[in-house]
Amino acid sequence: MAAPRRVLIVGNWKMNGSRQSKQELEAMVKGLNPAFSSVADIMVCPPAILLAELAGGAVSPIRFGGQDCHHNASGAHTGDISAEMLKESGADSVILGHSERRADHGEGDAIVHAKVKAAWRAGLLPIVCVGETLEQRDADEAAAVVARQVRQSIPEGATGENLVVAYEPIWAIGTGRTPTPEDVAQVHASIRHVLNERFGEEGEKIRILYGGSVKPENAKTLLAVANVDGALVGGASLKAEDFLGIAHAAL
Ligand code: PGA
Repeated sequence: MAAPRRVLIVGNWKMNGSRQSKQELEAMVKGLNPAFSSVADIMVCPPAILLAELAGGAVSPIRFGGQDCHHNASGAHTGDISAEMLKESGADSVILGHSERRADHGEGDAIVHAKVKAAWRAGLLPIVCVGETLEQRDADEAAAVVARQVRQSIPEGATGENLVVAYEPIWAIGTGRTPTPEDVAQVHASIRHVLNERFGEEGEKIRILYGGSVKPENAKTLLAVANVDGALVGGASLKAEDFLGIAHAAL
């Protein structure tokens, strides 16, 4: 039997936080159950400008990620940040293709695909986000839309070590609404199917996170769903108490 996939809890701070957030981060480190690291991984993705300061502190069980990167390593791309720059600032990982990037910056699967390769080039673990709109869910297209995004956003060569997928139904992000565990199970199963089909044994090892209104109150239920290997947490990752409540649901 294949080894179980290690749970991963990721906090996506989005465009929130300041240099003061170091205190919140310290509270997270202090409050984290010492047993956590033996069973699961925990990561925070702050705005890139805070990465170096937050990641540069004492050795901590919390790892760091960026929220996006450019697909080139350097060059004339005003306002952009490369995967190499994130890596140099202390990131191990990067969120790619988040629905807010797809909506605010017109990012499609092709650009996400190029960014995944950039993350690999820099030695970062890409967390590729996929998810359907409410109209697509109502039209019964969720699984198909998500399967297509997984096929088109992820390049050849993905393994359990170098890729994480996050399923985030767009209508569940920041709304307090979540799909039923049955709906989550269905979409995660269809993602797993595509991963297995494309990457064989490695597909089985790739972690699939659920994201969208994860809270301390619903974390245990969501993490218990088949093929849910962790959570991508927005709003509830900003406060140590909430984020720890979610992380500890993995124990
Ligand atoms: P939320 O955001 O937890 O605030 O719904 C999740 C995300 O967008 O990653």
